[in-house]
Amino acid sequence: MDFFLDTADVNEVKELVDTGLINGITTNPTLIAKSGRAFKDVIIEMCELIDGPVSAEVAALDYETMLVEGKKLADLHERVAVKVPLTPAGLRVCKELSDDGIMVNVTLCFSPLQALLAAKAGATFISPFVGRMDDIGHDGMDLITDIREIYENYVDLETCILAASIRHPLHVLQAAKAGADIATIPPKVLHQLYHHPMTDRGIDAFVKDWASTGQTI
Ligand code: G3P
Repeated sequence: MDFFLDTADVNEVKELVDTGLINGITTNPTLIAKSGRAFKDVIIEMCELIDGPVSAEVAALDYETMLVEGKKLADLHERVAVKVPLTPAGLRVCKELSDDGIMVNVTLCFSPLQALLAAKAGATFISPFVGRMDDIGHDGMDLITDIREIYENYVDLETCILAASIRHPLHVLQAAKAGADIATIPPKVLHQLYHHPMTDRGIDAFVKDWASTGQTI
């Protein structure tokens, strides 16, 4: 399973890039606004930090403008994945950009049939929003399971399932068990994945017992 970071905070990426565990980055207009920085500067800086796809989302909703924006974003760096919303216009743009060899991340996916449409439109990534489904009382992980089941039936569908809107470590566990190709994880959640109290207690005991030997390695 690949791990992407879901952030537009370059400092958060710098803090985690040396782990060697980060395979890409996803941003969205909300994260960019939160960064307080120029969109294009953030995307270029992210592409220079990570040797993997960096998702940059269009702002327009109409086909013509979305296509122009998508091409501008793709021109920023070869590893930009253009993010488009799951709408008729968005999927038209997805088809056109992917036919031109540009990576496309279709976002704001909330149903398996939307994911089927995105795959037919040649999406590189589909982003089902697990957490936001949970937020309204549905089991968001069912989305991942259903999409995985559908995609497995058709070898010609090459779209990667990018589990998004991850709220906590259990979402990462469940997405991995459900067969998501990627999870895009908020940095705070990624830090949480490392920790278990039994590991901490075991380390404390090993340190104490090793110190009692008086030896060095
Ligand atoms: O960036 C896409 C997605 O992961 C954002 O989800 O629900 O945290 O805004 P959310």
